[in-house]
Amino acid sequence: MNVFIIGGTSGLGLEIGKLFLEKGAQVYATGRKELNITENLDQLIEDLNEKVSSLPTIDLFIYAAGFLEKGHIGELSDAHIAQMINVGLTAPALILERLLKKQKHLEGFIAITSTSQWIPRELEPVYTGVKAGLAMLAQSVSFDPNIKKTLVVGPAGMNTEFWTNSDRDVSALLSPKWVAEQILKLWVDNYIYRLTRILRDPTPEAERVQIIETRFE
Ligand SMILES: NC(=O)c1ccc[n+]([C@@H]2O[C@H](COP(=O)([O-])OP(=O)(O)OC[C@H]3O[C@@H](n4cnc5c(N)ncnc54)[C@H](OP(=O)(O)O)[C@@H]3O)[C@@H](O)[C@H]2O)c1
Repeated sequence: MNVFIIGGTSGLGLEIGKLFLEKGAQVYATGRKELNITENLDQLIEDLNEKVSSLPTIDLFIYAAGFLEKGHIGELSDAHIAQMINVGLTAPALILERLLKKQKHLEGFIAITSTSQWIPRELEPVYTGVKAGLAMLAQSVSFDPNIKKTLVVGPAGMNTEFWTNSDRDVSALLSPKWVAEQILKLWVDNYIYRLTRILRDPTPEAERVQIIETRFE
């Protein structure tokens, strides 16, 4: 089994990759060193053409890249906004396009969004937008008969490098290893599409790992 993870060099993507390695999968992981997604769309297209053509047939594509945003919309720069949209939405769409053109079908797709896909946040206007967009991209492609199984996971705050250079106290955030283990459990069932949320601090009556929707056909 070949697993391709964008954002697989740190935090949640790295932990998911380790679990698939333990299961005997071949894992192809990228971070900024291997595939730096910037605001430059021409460069992204060139890099993705090269990257995807170098891969064997991919069975599972996991999109886990993301980075922090902090600012009102009027305080952000053009470069930041373009990079956020490229990381959050353009790159996963271009990769799916290339994988499907190359190998005609894809057995599995996991999109890592965030609870920000449901919760508007004053200082994360573009981040919340791309996470909601990635969730809808994933749900829409799940109707494509050439994509066999799709899982969307929206986790709450995790203790990862994501928060480096911010003043957030990360000590009480979710462990990315634990979140990865939950994702593996959510993945193994048989379905076409599943939407899930992993909360940090649910109300007493609520589950921490929530399956919001599962579609079987
Ligand atoms: N941490 C949280 O509280 C939290 C909460 C909800 C959702 N999420 C989402 O969970 C996913 C994983 O985040 P994480 O917490 O594991 O963060 P992380 O430890 O910072 O890992 C992010 C991954 O994305 C890669 N990446 C970041 N910017 C990139 C860029 N411009 N081009 C290419 N690759 C890039 C990183 O590469 P490098 O190794 O080179 O840095 C790394 O592999 C992200 O989609 C994030 O939005 C995080």
